[in-house]
Amino acid sequence: MLIACNWKMFCTPSQELKWVEQNKQILTKLAQNHTLILFPSFLSLQPLATLLKGTPILLGAQDCSEHEYGPFTGQTSAQALAELGCSYVVVGHLERRQLGETQEQIARKAAQATKAGLKPIVCVETLDQVIPHTITAYEPSSAIGTGITPSPTEIAATLNKLPADSLRLYGGSVSSKNAAEIGSIPSLGGLLIGKASLDIQELGKIVESLPK
Ligand code: PGA
Repeated sequence: MLIACNWKMFCTPSQELKWVEQNKQILTKLAQNHTLILFPSFLSLQPLATLLKGTPILLGAQDCSEHEYGPFTGQTSAQALAELGCSYVVVGHLERRQLGETQEQIARKAAQATKAGLKPIVCVETLDQVIPHTITAYEPSSAIGTGITPSPTEIAATLNKLPADSLRLYGGSVSSKNAAEIGSIPSLGGLLIGKASLDIQELGKIVESLPK
C-alpha cells in the first residue's frame, strides 16, 4: 500500500531532521512492504533527500505551483521539487482549498507535477474534484484532524466511485485504532496520514496492521 505521511506545518526543519535521524531504521523496515512517502515542510526536503539516500523511503511535497517557472514570488515549482528528489506532491488538500484554491488551479498543479515527473496525489471530498489519471485521496472534511472517521462501509462506498485506473487513498484521522478496519477495504490503495504519522509508534502500528 501507499502510505503518505503529511507533516503539515507541525515541525521546524531541525525537528523533522531529528525525527527522521532517530527513526530511519524503523521507517526503512516499514518501507520494505509498502510505498512509504514523507511529506515534510519544504525547507526540509533537501536535507532529508540527502539523509534518505540509499533507503526505500520516498519524499514528497505538500504543494506545488500551478506555474512552470517565472515571476511568482514565494512559490515552488514542480521542477524544483523533482530536482530536490521528490517523487510525489500533494495537491488540493482541504487546508489549501479553504484558503481559496480553486479546482482549476488544482488541475494546473497536477498537470505541472506530472510534467515534471512527479506523481500528484489529489485530495478530494466530492467526486467533482477528482482529476483523472492521478492518485486520488478521499479526505472528508469532517474527518481531518477531528478523530472522527466515516465507517469503513461509507469509506468503501466512496472509494468505489473513484476511478479505478489509479490508486485510491483514504485520509482523515487515520490511527492505530482504525487502520486495520480501513486497511481491509478491498479498493483501498493506501492512506494519507496527518498527525499520527509523526508518532513513530502510532505509524508503526498503522503500517503493520495493513495488508502487504
Ligand atoms: P489527520 O490529517 O490524519 O491529522 O486527520 C489527514 C490529512 O489532513 O491529510
